[in-house]
Amino acid sequence: MAVRKIPPDWHYVSATQSELWRAVAAAHAPSSEDGDPVAVAYGEIFDETATALSGSQVHLVGMGAGAGQKERKFAQALGRAGCDVEFTAVDVSEALAFEAARGVGEVIAGKTQVMVGDFREAGAFLPRLADSSDGRRQVFTGFGLSPNLHPDEFFPKVRCLLDADDGAALVSANLWPAGSDAQRELLSQYDNPETRRWLGQLFVEWEVTEAEVPELEFSVGETDGVAAVQAFATWPELGKRLLESAPSMVEGWRSGDRIEVFSSLRYTTDNFAQRAEVAGMLVQTSRSSTCGREAIFWLAGMSSG
Ligand SMILES: C[S@@+](CC[C@H](N)C(=O)[O-])C[C@H]1O[C@@H](n2cnc3c(N)ncnc32)[C@H](O)[C@@H]1O
Repeated sequence: MAVRKIPPDWHYVSATQSELWRAVAAAHAPSSEDGDPVAVAYGEIFDETATALSGSQVHLVGMGAGAGQKERKFAQALGRAGCDVEFTAVDVSEALAFEAARGVGEVIAGKTQVMVGDFREAGAFLPRLADSSDGRRQVFTGFGLSPNLHPDEFFPKVRCLLDADDGAALVSANLWPAGSDAQRELLSQYDNPETRRWLGQLFVEWEVTEAEVPELEFSVGETDGVAAVQAFATWPELGKRLLESAPSMVEGWRSGDRIEVFSSLRYTTDNFAQRAEVAGMLVQTSRSSTCGREAIFWLAGMSSG
């Protein structure tokens, strides 16, 4: 039976989906409180890269910035390193992009702007970004994007962002946790009421009643050789009513088809660095959280070294 995939950005577009995602992040994402190992790793790499950029005019561009808490901390580190920072939030969610711009705007003196759009269509908005960079060094962030995108979509698109002179990117990867309980721990991060409600909202957006939202089954599998937590559903018998409000991509989907509603990839640090290199990027520096759940990589295009 055919496996169909829901594109990951479809889960963030409406204001309700953004709100439900915030609830998931609050309940299940690693805490951003000081002292949390993931927050510590971010803090260290923010300070290290800010020091490397010391005194520069920076155009910080948050790809898939979400609510922008990480970009806010990075902007503060850049400020401490004497950088003059302007900020652009890029996100498919208008609500989240504005929230990010507002939050970062509170800690920088330079201007902020919002671009609501798909990171995978980077080519289309790069000229606009170049105009607004006005000679500033472009520094991209992409936190929480690599887990949901197929590697063939993620790495080449990041490389395409780095074509501008001196362009660099800080991107994160979720890692397979250490320990014999890893699989159970990972599944519980996703198989919970908050995540089910968030992912189910896509069907509600398509005018499916909450009672008719298909049940999600969570499992661990792989995508292109990378371990992944996946959520599948059986496409329901909803007929015309759904098809009138759903995107045209689903028109050929038939009741009983198995649908991959969501997946979250878990790289190893080596595997991530190798894929970045194949796409034409070099890891300048990286940090893994001591809990082994997340890593952050500072990438540069190979030609710009
Ligand atoms: C997992 S959240 C991470 C948010 C934030 N960067 C963080 O680390 O907390 C993914 C974010 O990327 C956005 N997003 C997902 N797919 C996207 C795409 N193709 N283009 C732009 N934004 C996207 C979502 O709207 C959401 O804000």
